[in-house]
Amino acid sequence: MAHRPLACVILAAGKGTRMKSDLPKVLHRVAGRPMVGHVLAAVKTLDPDHVVVVVGPGMESVAAAVAPYPTAIQHEQRGTADAVRAAFGLLEGFTGDVVVLYGDTPLVTPDTLHAMVAARRRSDDPAVVVLGMRPDDPGAYGRLILNADGGLEKIVEYLDASGEERAVGLCNAGLMAFDGARMFDLIGSVGNDNAKSEFYLTDVVQIARRGGMACAVVEAAPAEVVGVNSRAELSEVERLIQRRLRKAAMDNGATLTDPDSTIFSVDTKLGRDVIVGAHVVFAGGVTVGDNVEIKSFCHLEQTRIETGATVGPYARLRPGAEIGPDAHIGNFVEIKNAVIEAGAKVNHLTYIGDARVGAKANIGAGTITCNYDGFGKHRTDIGAGAFIGSNSSLVAPVTIGDGAIVGAGSVITTAVEADALVVARGAQKAYAGWAKRFRERKQSEKAKKA
Ligand code: UD1
Ligand code: MG
Repeated sequence: MAHRPLACVILAAGKGTRMKSDLPKVLHRVAGRPMVGHVLAAVKTLDPDHVVVVVGPGMESVAAAVAPYPTAIQHEQRGTADAVRAAFGLLEGFTGDVVVLYGDTPLVTPDTLHAMVAARRRSDDPAVVVLGMRPDDPGAYGRLILNADGGLEKIVEYLDASGEERAVGLCNAGLMAFDGARMFDLIGSVGNDNAKSEFYLTDVVQIARRGGMACAVVEAAPAEVVGVNSRAELSEVERLIQRRLRKAAMDNGATLTDPDSTIFSVDTKLGRDVIVGAHVVFAGGVTVGDNVEIKSFCHLEQTRIETGATVGPYARLRPGAEIGPDAHIGNFVEIKNAVIEAGAKVNHLTYIGDARVGAKANIGAGTITCNYDGFGKHRTDIGAGAFIGSNSSLVAPVTIGDGAIVGAGSVITTAVEADALVVARGAQKAYAGWAKRFRERKQSEKAKKA
């Protein structure tokens, strides 16, 4: 079959007033990615020939976020049909299929988009395919009115609907697929004689029917088409996507001890037989190998953890942390921009930043890499098999050779040779009987005063 071209138009010009935010609505994040990024990710699975994102004036930040896809500006918010018209300039002469999506409806799945395109290409050749849903509470959604043959007859906006129409449970989710050859005329004929004096995209159905064209409905689960207009709805969408991500993680062979408290980003990658304790947060960019255990209360971001490592409880892995195979990262440990090589142990109360910890090195409790001098960052390099005694400060830039031992409580400021013992702390002095004599003197002074 000849390739039929496909275009996608994403509407994102709405101001999002109810978000009460300086950030354009579609840039608010769910599972670590801006909403419009989720829509684009779903759209990409259709392999479209064109994608246009419609934004409002001054939304350069949205344009930057969706680049390299082009944006069209809708200068005034005059309704959803007007918003699609704003994209016409970039689609001139296009006669393939056109899918219209909303930037604030981020949970739509590739399967649903494929079903809409397939329905558009059916033999009855509908001019418009509308995505429908049956929410528990149809609220103020537009209602889909079917005809006797089960085809779509019209969409009525809630404000314009009669009592009988409001009783219909089948609602407009908002997304539509058009035959591009007919779309420009259909949307061009939409007027604004309605309760809001807006150009409703939904009017195209009635216009198409009057012209004798077929229109069809594809239904989606309501959870997939939840739109975000407020922070409460944003949190609801976050909840739904987390549920999806948790299920996917478990389906792929990870154990989540308390799934409801595991927070994922869309790009989290977990290997097989990973065990995740309660209250673990995967911020963006985390990759975890097989057989890794991440114990409770860890926060991980832009981090790679290799096979067999254990992390936590209460560890913070910041951008650039690379935890090698079978390494141990324990409680109250913070690691940033540092490679912890195979089998190394950093088990307690430690900060490792801008560093390398060689294979099988052991970092004692309370070790700090002093990487920052108030102006710049400096590196610490710890050799394989080195042993850093507890409560040591390694003042970077500094190198600890392979197999060296650093005595507890040391402040290391210059390079330590391989296999050396270095102790850099005040020498211990002892004064026999001093404490006892001190106490006796104090007690007799006290007795004299009384
Ligand atoms: C729309 C539908 C309604 C449907 C509901 C589903 C219309 C007329 N109504 O209503 O039937 O049940 O979605 O959520 O389409 N936008 C622009 N420019 C505009 C207006 C809107 O870009 O001038 C964008 C918004 O940013 C948003 C989307 O279009 O992403 C939908 O707009 P919104 O105002 O939320 O439409 P609803 O009133 O919710
Ligand atoms: Mg809406």
